[in-house]
Amino acid sequence: MSRNHPRVKAKTPFDKYFMYTHSVQGAEHDAELLWKMTKKVWSGPLPAKPILQEDFCATAALCYEWVKLGNNHQAVGVDLDADALAWGATHHSESLTTSQTGRVHMIHGDVLHNHKVYPHVICALNFSYFFIKERSVLKQYFTACRKTLAKNGLLILDAFGGPDYLMSHIDRRRNTEESFTYWWEVETFDAISHQIKCHLHFKRDGEARRDRVFSYDWRLWSPPEIIDVLRESGFKNVQFWAEGLNRMGRGNGIFKPIKSEKECSTWIIYLVAK
Ligand SMILES: C[S@@+](CC[C@H](N)C(=O)[O-])C[C@H]1O[C@@H](n2cnc3c(N)ncnc32)[C@H](O)[C@@H]1O
Repeated sequence: MSRNHPRVKAKTPFDKYFMYTHSVQGAEHDAELLWKMTKKVWSGPLPAKPILQEDFCATAALCYEWVKLGNNHQAVGVDLDADALAWGATHHSESLTTSQTGRVHMIHGDVLHNHKVYPHVICALNFSYFFIKERSVLKQYFTACRKTLAKNGLLILDAFGGPDYLMSHIDRRRNTEESFTYWWEVETFDAISHQIKCHLHFKRDGEARRDRVFSYDWRLWSPPEIIDVLRESGFKNVQFWAEGLNRMGRGNGIFKPIKSEKECSTWIIYLVAK
């Protein structure tokens, strides 16, 4: 190759888990935020060996970040998708030390089953518990979390909404570093059932757009509904956390407990239940 040729990055095969990790996930940030919430909300002395159980973990990106936060941090991921778990074990563990890798465990199974982990924190993020559409099953899930959590343990969830998401809607975003564009589409929302169908589309520079690489058929649970079911499932205290805004009205990266969320066309919040 001539020395004068620009270095062109060789195109790797399209990898949907890579695209997911580099678009809608921010696992390093989420792990730090979960630990910040735990330290703030925990009653009594913090656990010496904090165990995180990441439910609906897919590639378990969060588990692999959690164990970097301390020498005694341990993480367990639970998912039904063996391919996603295997992808995470290969790719997310690349940056881990042997000690960190030894503190991550994966369970190929259903989050509704008792896996006898007894974690200090359970999380179900990126709205993954929205797969559950029946109130009775949501209560079954939250009750199972309450029972398996260690004393003083926390369940951390996220939720989204706002008038813009209650109708067909598309957000376009760019990952400049990885040279691709992606779209988060709300295809339909049903005001009666609160069934919401969403898709993720990707387009790598110089290639055709790949539609519906990930599709979700969810129930859009509202915060008051989630709180009611959490309380019925044994959680006595629920906090809401959200990102603050800068002067331009954009997220400032600082998450704090909030009491209300007003005048937002779209919003994402975290719920911390204990
Ligand atoms: C939206 S993805 C996961 C997102 C991930 N938690 C994140 O933060 O980006 C949803 C995952 O839930 C898994 N899943 C759905 N129902 C499940 C169940 N009952 N038990 C375990 N995993 C389940 C799917 O296999 C899929 O990998």
